[in-house]
Amino acid sequence: MPEPLNKSVGQATSRKMKYRKAKASWNPAMQAIPVSGIRKLVNMASTMKDVIHLSIGQPDQPTPPHIIEAYVDALNAGQTGYTMDAGLPELLVALRDYYGKRYNRKLTRDNILITSGATEALYLAISATSAPGRQFLVTDPSFLLYAPLIRMTGGEVKYIPTYAENNHQLDPDDVIKAMGSRTFALVLNNPNNPTGAVYPRSTVETILEECAYRGIQVYADEVYDHMLFDDDDFASVLSCAVDLDNIMCISSFSKTYSMAGLRVGWVISSQAAIKSLRRYHMFTTSVANTPAQFAGVAALTAEQHCVQDMVSIYRERRDNIVKLIDRTPHLTGYKPGGAFYAFPNLPPHVDGSDVALRMLKETGVCVVPGDAFGDHCTNALRFSFSLTCERMNEAFDRIIPWMAKQKF
Ligand SMILES: Cc1ncc(COP(=O)(O)O)c(C=O)c1O
Repeated sequence: MPEPLNKSVGQATSRKMKYRKAKASWNPAMQAIPVSGIRKLVNMASTMKDVIHLSIGQPDQPTPPHIIEAYVDALNAGQTGYTMDAGLPELLVALRDYYGKRYNRKLTRDNILITSGATEALYLAISATSAPGRQFLVTDPSFLLYAPLIRMTGGEVKYIPTYAENNHQLDPDDVIKAMGSRTFALVLNNPNNPTGAVYPRSTVETILEECAYRGIQVYADEVYDHMLFDDDDFASVLSCAVDLDNIMCISSFSKTYSMAGLRVGWVISSQAAIKSLRRYHMFTTSVANTPAQFAGVAALTAEQHCVQDMVSIYRERRDNIVKLIDRTPHLTGYKPGGAFYAFPNLPPHVDGSDVALRMLKETGVCVVPGDAFGDHCTNALRFSFSLTCERMNEAFDRIIPWMAKQKF
């Protein structure tokens, strides 16, 4: 019950109480969704001229024309209704064949659910299984969606730190040591946002073997599975797991084919898990965007040169940003193997949020502070290299002299 307002209380207090009352009308689960630390930066950047964004989390390269054509053709052909709840049958078949060939894993259409991007897939998978008493292991730093989704339905997050000194690689022994009697699941994001780390096959296999042995669920977020710069052998859980009983593999078209706004993703899992997720999906978004699913069929079934071309551009940018970070005073970098992010450290105990804010104000370059991605990387900054090398060079022409003047 809200407290009665006393006439003598000042206006400020009464405003505060009204606010408290309004807040109380939300489901307490909403409290798990943090106030984004990025908001302040983005708000400030929107009021400034000539900002260079190294903060962007989506591809800047154009969607390949044959994919756009397939989208427009679907619209013109009147494909504007709902699809089947599991997804467009042609897309389910295309994904089954594509993954079957890529990872030599036999799948059926019933192993797949099409969603509105990987975001919906993660929402369904995590919120359908997280519950009080269930502990989820998550790397720190990690993509900012996981922890709130786990906490919203009462689950507990246990962070496993990764370190820049170790190229943010995940030590399987650390993961195994973190497992206890309450551990219910592990979220494995490979290649990783925000670190760009790509976990090798030995790491993934060791972790999966232990999870299978202990009956721990694995949510594998593989949206950057084509953004690989050094090693073509990508250790997808689909190629490492003996069976899919405790695995949900999540991905989307967003990054690989520059289709982030078309919103198509998927979950691949056991038929039993997909059956349950399908029911939940029908009660959330019902189906993914129909013409975008046709575009997805075109993406998967055409020649894959467009992907290779985009990846070689990102590789060139990765090499460029590694050199630029090396030349920047106070930043300690490493070589990210995938995705399109670098996550260098400032000296220990320097507040990355404060640096990012001042850097934006004083140089017009926007990066994301490490504390947006967890608890232990508050002295890190995330640099996205989803921009041209020319623009990146301009950004560092501003950053390097500015950093040289900082007295940390
Ligand atoms: C690691 C990771 N997972 C999932 C997503 C969401 O992807 P989608 O656009 O398919 O919802 C992103 C987007 O930035 C991401 O970085």
